[in-house]
Amino acid sequence: MESEVKIIDQIYWVGMNDRESHLFESMWPLPQGVCYNSYLILDQKIALLDTVKKIVSPGYLTKLRNILPKGKQIDYLIIHHLEPDHSGSIPILLELFPQIQIIGTKKTAEFLEHLYGISDNVKIVANGDELDLGERKLIFFSTPMVHWPETMMSYEPNNKILFSGDAFGGFGTMDGGIFDDTVDINYYEDETLRYFSNIVGKFSSMVLKAIDKLKGYDIKIVASTHGPIWRKNPQRVIDLYEKWSRHESEKGVVVAYGSMYGNTEKMMEATVRGIAETGLQTIRIHNVSKAHNSFILRDIWRYKGLILGSPTYDGKLFPPMESLVCLLRDKMIKKRCVGIFGNYGWSGGGVKSLNDFVGQAKLQLVEPAVEARFAPETEQLEQCFRLGTNIASSIKQHNC
Ligand SMILES: Cc1cc2nc3c(=O)[nH]c(=O)nc-3n(C[C@H](O)[C@H](O)[C@H](O)COP(=O)(O)O)c2cc1C
Ligand SMILES: [Fe+2]
Ligand SMILES: [Fe+2]
Repeated sequence: MESEVKIIDQIYWVGMNDRESHLFESMWPLPQGVCYNSYLILDQKIALLDTVKKIVSPGYLTKLRNILPKGKQIDYLIIHHLEPDHSGSIPILLELFPQIQIIGTKKTAEFLEHLYGISDNVKIVANGDELDLGERKLIFFSTPMVHWPETMMSYEPNNKILFSGDAFGGFGTMDGGIFDDTVDINYYEDETLRYFSNIVGKFSSMVLKAIDKLKGYDIKIVASTHGPIWRKNPQRVIDLYEKWSRHESEKGVVVAYGSMYGNTEKMMEATVRGIAETGLQTIRIHNVSKAHNSFILRDIWRYKGLILGSPTYDGKLFPPMESLVCLLRDKMIKKRCVGIFGNYGWSGGGVKSLNDFVGQAKLQLVEPAVEARFAPETEQLEQCFRLGTNIASSIKQHNC
């Protein structure tokens, strides 16, 4: 979709779809692509809100040229976030429109100089500052560490639009529609959670601080830098981000396991039999050797129960499980009931590492922790079954 779309009188979406990149931040898979949202306000003064990643800048600049009234220039570039998925087009934009005044936080100015060598015509704004555009104005909120130090949001009071930067964003290209009421929004909510858990979730406490700052403002439209624009139900995405940031979760169990030769997998099968026997149907199994951590983390962020199963490898966890555990530690997952099982051949180490992780992360361990030597015997398979029933009842009784 190459054309600009009107959001409301004189305010346009000029974002770009990226259907080409395989990975976001060279790390997170993009099966449904990603969109870099940028907005243009055509008032007496013309303001551009964020830009797009460099690889899509040719189409972006064409869009801007098409939409700008003849003889008009862009007066302001508001930077909500300087990560290059939104700032990559700034150098080329400045070549075309050298008179633009850049507006951002103190940190933005500092980063802009280091990242692009840009320091001229930069105006620093602080929390509560306003920018007059003519009929409209923008009020700035400083919302640091969502998910970089320089981040801010802006609010346009006439139309009650919140330009929120990465907060309230999600993966996925805009496939024709750009609003929550013109797309299949359920399809986007999964990718919004994956974006949140992979990119923003670590900074949950700062997201909650940012949401707190917005309280008292009537928000009719949420326009973030990724994903759909929420105008039918803007509170929905704010509530989702708030719930996820509080680590509130749904009834269900994620079982992430690794297995080289099928023995740990047998333990997994016995465990999920135990869960299913209780009537709990929401079970999400991920083989860590096949699924990308990005999707496993999304499901872990959604559901209350987590079971990790791993063989021992070189005295430690099976490496793909080690990588998942490392990610969970980094992203500071909280408030989960966790079960563990594992397998070893000679001196063990896998189950111990899982146990250490659960303790260090202060997650609630559900008994029994099951360990088998090579092939699990009936006794360990029965323990796994019991682990499954125990975790399901902990979840049902809201014990974690
Ligand atoms: C490459 C490799 C490395 C292993 N390293 C260890 C180890 O360091 N310590 C240990 O107790 N067992 C080790 N084992 C044994 C496995 O943990 C054991 O065979 C286990 O049953 C494998 O489970 P799986 O069938 O689910 O893959 C290793 C096995 C393999 C294949
Ligand atoms: Fe970002
Ligand atoms: Fe971003």
